Amino acid sequence: MTSFAILGLTFAIVILSRFLLPQVQRTIRKWKAVLYIGCREPPRYHHKDPLGRDLFRRTIEAYKEHKFLDFTERLFQEHGNTFKTITEGKVLIKTRDPEVSKAVYTTFFDKFGLQPIRYEGGKGFFGDGILVTDGAQWKRSRTLIRPAFDIAHIANFNRLDRHVSRFLEILPQDGSTIDLLPLFKRLTLDLSSEFIFGKAMDALSSPESCKEFITAFTTAQRGVVMKPAAREKNWEASCQLVTKYVDDRVEEAIERASSAQKMSGGSAKYVRLVDELVKATQDRRALRYQVLSVFSPAHDTVAVTLGNLFFHLARNPLAWDRLRQELLPTAHHHRQCLETCILPCGGGADGKRPLLVEKGNIVETNFRLMQRGKSYWGEDAEEFRPERWENIRPTWEYTPFSGGPRICPAFKLVYTECEYIAAAMLREFSGLENRDSELAWIEERRLIFQSKNGTLVGLRR
Ligand code: HEM
Repeated sequence: MTSFAILGLTFAIVILSRFLLPQVQRTIRKWKAVLYIGCREPPRYHHKDPLGRDLFRRTIEAYKEHKFLDFTERLFQEHGNTFKTITEGKVLIKTRDPEVSKAVYTTFFDKFGLQPIRYEGGKGFFGDGILVTDGAQWKRSRTLIRPAFDIAHIANFNRLDRHVSRFLEILPQDGSTIDLLPLFKRLTLDLSSEFIFGKAMDALSSPESCKEFITAFTTAQRGVVMKPAAREKNWEASCQLVTKYVDDRVEEAIERASSAQKMSGGSAKYVRLVDELVKATQDRRALRYQVLSVFSPAHDTVAVTLGNLFFHLARNPLAWDRLRQELLPTAHHHRQCLETCILPCGGGADGKRPLLVEKGNIVETNFRLMQRGKSYWGEDAEEFRPERWENIRPTWEYTPFSGGPRICPAFKLVYTECEYIAAAMLREFSGLENRDSELAWIEERRLIFQSKNGTLVGLRR
């Protein structure tokens, strides 16, 4: 055989094994799934663009018009509870089916991950922290942060009491109109910064003092979900400013830990996440990234929840006395398939057949729409009716904190904080009036959805 023929043969073998063979294997796997297990394709979104840019453009328009929730609701009405789309050339399965969600987040937990979606963009700010990793790395982080969350919701009433008292002090006494949303943000910033960094940012008493940090944090966090070229010019400087602040808090915690040891293991008065982490490791980089990763989901989610709650209570005087937490601000969550698998449902036109999900496909679970599905919640699903909680016990129809091993570790803390703050407001004020001429809740997308008009109310003692 000539060397030219050998070269040609090698080239043919490489092409065959790299490209053709996997393609043939995929097709065989698909046919087996259809023939032996009964898998069916879910409905498809009819893209005009093979890379899916058409749907992306429509989504951006809906965001800009503050109609994203209506837009996604319409997509599901037109295509069913589970359907396939394309994003940047990849398969993206959108679902609002609680059973598909349960399968992805629990039964097939190990076969789905978020690292392939988040790590590259996020590592510059979150390092190897809990928010951007899967597998052993994620497990280590989870084990590290969990003890603080396990006790924080019962051990932190002193912290709550101090900050909530200060919050009540600065609310107007004369019934004048006030936007509660920014005030809730200042309150929960003090609560979360003290819990996580070990030191409150004093946002309630001197809002200017933490403005620089919060602006930098928002810029840094926004950049994480963008392509590097699209990031704001001051992205790196913002990351550095935030990192410096966090590193200083970590040093203080290490110092606190060693002086507590010298004073024969003096017990901490309050639970602070950074102090709990220092008990387990003194690796400064690891500490920085874990602390940052927890502050990111923490710093305004509770405020937005309370803002939404009081927005609706101000429009429903009867519900004021029957307070129940109902609205939580999450939207949709993604997992990328790490290993081809068959979910028990989500396939076929009715979503009841098994569904083949291939490695690399992304599943987008729309928690927000599951929380409004009329088949479970009834025809009045869109209405603010807290009494509904007296008779229902939802499981996967209501997962604002996600579910399975990766459920939000702060969910008990969040319930405690929301109930404590709402109860303090209910005790302090006899009446709550809406002062906003716009009655409808209009969405505004930050990293989560909040009321575009804030929460304009008057409070009566
Ligand atoms: C209304 C308030 C909150 C809601 C609705 C909420 C919801 C969620 C959801 C849905 C996830 C899963 C995200 C995903 O899998 O992609 C999550 C994860 C997480 N949340 Fe929360 N959260 C809230 C408040 C908080 C607070 C106050 C903290 C910290 C003090 C926190 C810390 C975390 C952390 C560290 C994770 C990552 C867990 C992991 O990957 O294992 N969250 N949260």
